[in-house]
Amino acid sequence: MLLNLMKKDLESLTCQALVVFSRIVGKDQSVKISLPGVAKDLSQAVAEKAVTGKHLESVLFRDKNHLGFRHILVVGLGKDSELDHEHVRQAAAQVFEALKSAGIKEAAVHFDGLAANKRHAPAFAKAFAEGATLASYVFDELKSRKKDQKDDKTELTIHVVSTAAAEASVKKAFNEGLMLAGCVNFSRYLGDMPGNLMTPTILAQKAQEAAKGTGLKVTVWDKARIKKEKMGGLLGVSLGSDQEPRFIIMEYKGAPASKAPVVFVGKGLTFDSGGISIKPSAGMEEMKYDMCGGANVIGAMLAIARLKLKVNAVGLVPSTENMPGPSANKPGDIMAARNGKTFEVNNTDAEGRLILSDALSYASELKPQAIFDAATLTGAMVVALGNTHTGFFTRNDALSKRINGAADESGEWVWRMPLTDFHTKDVRGTFADLSNISSSKGAGSATAAAFLEQFVGEGIPWAHFDIAGTGWGVGNRLNYCPKKGASGAILRTFVELAKSFA
Ligand code: BES
Ligand code: ZN
Ligand code: ZN
Repeated sequence: MLLNLMKKDLESLTCQALVVFSRIVGKDQSVKISLPGVAKDLSQAVAEKAVTGKHLESVLFRDKNHLGFRHILVVGLGKDSELDHEHVRQAAAQVFEALKSAGIKEAAVHFDGLAANKRHAPAFAKAFAEGATLASYVFDELKSRKKDQKDDKTELTIHVVSTAAAEASVKKAFNEGLMLAGCVNFSRYLGDMPGNLMTPTILAQKAQEAAKGTGLKVTVWDKARIKKEKMGGLLGVSLGSDQEPRFIIMEYKGAPASKAPVVFVGKGLTFDSGGISIKPSAGMEEMKYDMCGGANVIGAMLAIARLKLKVNAVGLVPSTENMPGPSANKPGDIMAARNGKTFEVNNTDAEGRLILSDALSYASELKPQAIFDAATLTGAMVVALGNTHTGFFTRNDALSKRINGAADESGEWVWRMPLTDFHTKDVRGTFADLSNISSSKGAGSATAAAFLEQFVGEGIPWAHFDIAGTGWGVGNRLNYCPKKGASGAILRTFVELAKSFA
């Protein structure tokens, strides 16, 4: 799909289709179509309730031949009073889907009808660019016959036509939306690649390739270096696999060196079989997604660099497979993390916290302003929040407020979860400092968070995001996400968080 912003009179434009918007306005909840000429043409359809203005409703009127446009697509925005950037993101995805399924190759969007209030134009331009670009993502890399080859190869082109298109703030916002969604789609691609084609080595290479020309410095540690650096958790988890682990470090310098960095950490488990505590086979194939936290941190770092944010940021991705090979760690094995704390591996399937322990210890050594981690950490998170919200854990109220603010900006849903001394008590070890599973029943996500907390330096603001429920397969809720594939969850919020420190 090609998406471009243009300043042009709709009267002077000729195109296969025109996209206008319908919305519900005023006390009487009447239906309003954004372009008066089209509204007149479609008054019958409104009277017959074929167009109701409902959010995400899309009605295509073929061969209307209005102005220079053959077809008219009407997309609903819902109640005018409720219209925000998230509605716009979803409406844009709806526009993309409707045009695509109608086989339309070129369309013009009446953007002024969307951002009727000029004040909203930049935010809505960004959201529109994001929604359409995110919706256009397909993972057909590994199919011999690509989806787009079905009919013909002409791509869909969408012209976003706006009288404000020449304004710097609108242009900038639109381009930011394109770029950000491009980074999300890249992270989704990393996540969707199967375990055999997205090993720790390949993931590190992809991060290095993608960083070229962005100003990001990428350093990759191999197994020998990981061992030398005393990363006992990451090394231990990798022992059952023939694939070497990697520790990926992405550094971005957008502020003076004296300014402490913000550090993002992502779980990069390229395949989680459970190890010796092996998982049931049903659904195990989904564990290729166990590196989505890492993929999304890589994508967030790319976006931060491309936006040239005035902040110092570091992305850390410990990456390995978790396999039941002859050298695999066994239940009861004890190892030491980088900060010297020891843990019993009482269940080899609780491996995410082990590889994150080293990354969080390393992050703390950087004396950061804050640390944020993202991980598909616990099945319990899926039970608690399903695929609607990403649960986050922090004891820091100011940081929690900052996170809610960032998520409001990004449009992603987050929900603060409890983290208390009781959870910490539950992960005390019998023969080592810690146990990687809880001694109590329930609250599996909180006890996992309490385990991670043990590796965060005293006083460093830190929050952990468990994306187990939101990392993939959220398309039944969000129309700009694939039904089954990786979502890119929390990437956009991480970029907003980085902005908040700039
Ligand atoms: N990667 C899984 C968590 C997961 C499960 C994410 C399902 C998404 C969907 C993680 O490594 C894991 O297996 N956690 C265990 C921990 C338990 C053994 C304490 C879990 O949640 O069952
Ligand atoms: Zn596991
Ligand atoms: Zn895992």
